[in-house]
Amino acid sequence: MLGPGGYVRDILAMPVGSSVEISGWVKTRRDSKGIHFAQVNDGSCMQDLQLVIDDGVLTAETLALVTTGASVTAGGELVASPGAGQSVELKVTGLAVHGGADTVTYPLQKKGHTMEFLRDIAHLRSRSNTFGAVFRVRNAVSYAIHRFFQERGFIYVHTPVITASDCEGAGAMFGVTTLDMQNVPRTEGGAIDFSQDFFGKPAYLTVSGQLEAEIFALAFSNVYTFGPTFRAENSNTPRHLAEFWMVEPEMAFCDLAGDMRLAEDFLKYVIRYVLDTCLADIEFFTKRIDPTVLGTLEHVASVDFEHVTYTEAVEILRRADRTWEFPVEWGCDLQAEHERFLTEETFKRPVIVTDYPKQIKAFYMRANDDGKTVRAMDVLAPRIGEIIGGSQREERHDVLQARIVEQGLDLEPYWWYLDLRRFGSVPHAGFGLGVERILMYLTGMKNIRDVIPFPRTPGSAEF
Ligand code: 4AD
Ligand code: MG
Repeated sequence: MLGPGGYVRDILAMPVGSSVEISGWVKTRRDSKGIHFAQVNDGSCMQDLQLVIDDGVLTAETLALVTTGASVTAGGELVASPGAGQSVELKVTGLAVHGGADTVTYPLQKKGHTMEFLRDIAHLRSRSNTFGAVFRVRNAVSYAIHRFFQERGFIYVHTPVITASDCEGAGAMFGVTTLDMQNVPRTEGGAIDFSQDFFGKPAYLTVSGQLEAEIFALAFSNVYTFGPTFRAENSNTPRHLAEFWMVEPEMAFCDLAGDMRLAEDFLKYVIRYVLDTCLADIEFFTKRIDPTVLGTLEHVASVDFEHVTYTEAVEILRRADRTWEFPVEWGCDLQAEHERFLTEETFKRPVIVTDYPKQIKAFYMRANDDGKTVRAMDVLAPRIGEIIGGSQREERHDVLQARIVEQGLDLEPYWWYLDLRRFGSVPHAGFGLGVERILMYLTGMKNIRDVIPFPRTPGSAEF
C-alpha cells in the first residue's frame, strides 16, 4: 500500500535499529566498492536521508534507475552513520523506483544554478535546496499569519477576487471580461458597451480586499483577509509582482496608534515563529544567500520600531549627504532608495512613517486637521523598503465623499462603502502586508520572483 508515510524529518530523529520506509526523490548518487549511496529528499526538511545499498540487494536494472531526479520508495533499518552530516542512515533491504530521470537531460544538476535559470524550470526548482527552504518558510509564514489573528479573536473573511471597485484608486487593475475581443460591442457613442458583458459593467481582479474587509470589521469588530491580489502596474522590479499575496487586518474602534502597535506585534510574531520552526532553513539562507539574515531577524524580533512622520523623513533625507536618483521634496512619494536609507542607515531598524501628504495616498485614508496630510502609515524594513502599508480610515461620510470626488474617482461604485459611514460608522484602521515582501526579508532572497511558487510579471505567466 502507498499512503502518506514517514517524513525524512521524522526518520532522522528516530533511534538506530528502527525499521522504516521512506519515499522521495534522489538528490545524488555515488558508488564505492560493493556499496552504493543515494541521498533522498522528500521536501520535509533541508537534510536528506542517506540510503546505503549493498551490492546484491537490488537487481542491476533497479540499481541503474536510482539516479539524480528519480522517485523511489525504500525500506530497511536505520543504522548509525559513520559519515559526517547525519547521525543515521538507512540500510536498504528493498527499494522500488516509481519514475526514473534521465541523467543527461534532467535539468537540476548538483552544480549551482543561477536564480534566473531556476526560474525557467519552476516546475523542478522546488526540489532544490534553496527553493525547498523558501517554500517551507512560506508555509510557516502562512500558518503563523492565521495563528496570530486567530489567537486574537479576528474573524477570517474571504473577500472577492473579482470586483467592480478600485480599492487603491490607482487604476492599475486587470480587466475581467467575456466580451469578444475581436468584435467588442459598442454603444451609440462608440464606447465599449459593458452592459453586454458578464457582470453588466466593467469588472476587475482585486488590488486589495480592504474595502470588503471594512464591511466585515463593521460587524465582527476585528477581521482579516488573506489571499491573492493583482496589480497591472508595469513595474519590472525585484520587489513587484502582478499577482501577490496580501494579508489585511481591519479593526473597528481602532485608530492609527492601535494599527501601528498591531503591525509591529504581528511582524515580530511571524519572525519569531519562523525562527522557532524553520531555524535550519534560516541558517541555510544565512550561509548561502545573505550572511546578515539570522542576525537581522533576531534583532528585529526584539527592538522597538522607530516612528517618524513623513515630514520629518523628508527633512532627514534632505539633510543627508547623498545624491538621490529621485527627488526629495515635500509632496513626492518616497522611493525605495529613500525608504532603505531611513531604515538601513538612519535608524538601523524597522521604521514606521506616518502622516503622508494626501495627494500621494488613497482616498480612504483619514484626513488630518492640517488639511494636507492623512493618517497613513508605512512600515519600512531594511533591505526591502515598504513591507506594510496601512492607515486609519475616513469614517466621516461627507469628508470621504469629497475625497473620492477630489481624486477624480466615480462615486457610483463606492455607494456601499459610503453607506457604511451612514449606519453605525466607527473609527477604524487596518493595514496590508505583502507576504512576498516579508518572505524576501526572512530568506534574504534578492528577487521577489524567487519567493512565490509561480511568479506573474510583465511578459511572463509560464507554469
Ligand atoms: O500599500 P498597499 O498598496 O496597500 C493596500 O493595498 C491597502 N489596501 C492595505 C490595507 O490598508 N488594507 O499594499 C500593501 C502591501 C505593500 O506594503 C507591499 O508589501 C505589498 O502590499 N505590495 C506588493 N507586493 C508585491 N508586488 C506588488 N506589486 C505589490 N504592491 C503592494
Ligand atoms: Mg503602499
